[in-house]
Amino acid sequence: MKTVTLSTLQAYKQAGESFSCLTAYDATFARTASDAGIEVLLVGDSLGMVLQGHHSTLPVTLADVCYHTRCVARGKGNSLLMVDLPFMSNASLERLLLDAGELMRAGAELIKVEGEAWMADDIRELTRRGVPVCVHLGLTPQTVYQLGGYKVQGRETERAEQIIADACTLVDAGASLVLLECVPADLGRAVSEAVSVPVIGIGAGPDVDGQILVMHDVLGVTHGRTPRFVKNFLAETDDIAGAFRRYHEDVKARRFPAEEHCF
Ligand code: KIV
Ligand code: NA
Repeated sequence: MKTVTLSTLQAYKQAGESFSCLTAYDATFARTASDAGIEVLLVGDSLGMVLQGHHSTLPVTLADVCYHTRCVARGKGNSLLMVDLPFMSNASLERLLLDAGELMRAGAELIKVEGEAWMADDIRELTRRGVPVCVHLGLTPQTVYQLGGYKVQGRETERAEQIIADACTLVDAGASLVLLECVPADLGRAVSEAVSVPVIGIGAGPDVDGQILVMHDVLGVTHGRTPRFVKNFLAETDDIAGAFRRYHEDVKARRFPAEEHCF
């Protein structure tokens, strides 16, 4: 695989070609995912749940994310490395900029922030300073206590329109990517059509530009209730490298997500 950049993903969107993304937390799994052809690796703050055993992503610190970013950066190969800004790193503009700087120094090539239209100025300040941003909309796990649980977002017209408007505002402010979590497939398509930049979906249906899953879900080692949009690819293959390849191929061929994974 050639080095994946934001331009690569933009070209995929133009060509209507899907791309795959997967979370990674260490060098070995990062290398395995990259060798499988996965275009984007995300050091997600889901590490609070899948690595640390917390019930949410809120306890994850900047130091935690930086540590895992340094690990993944050593194994990422030619994949693009995206990293989550942890909870409350947007407490002030100064903190946001300094924390984003730490993540970039640790090896991030792109920062993902959860937020709505009010984050527009923050996105503008980050991109102005050379930090590309992916905005995470829909189900935003850092606001789970406000949302009242991990629930599908945008089933009602008003909320759906708000998500589309937020995406447009934040892309206008400079966001390079949009990530959409847990929304009806129709809304996934509408957001992808509304913005010029690639839209990555998780539980957002087949008609977005790329797909992302949490590594542990792809390998079927998730405990507790598994969300509808998840698929265990290891069940169909012999080993972990094969599971990553199968996931990548199914995303590229738009075989995943299937109807049963969508809202
Ligand atoms: O933290 C994470 O792994 C994420 C993905 C679920 C998109 O944000
Ligand atoms: Na996250």
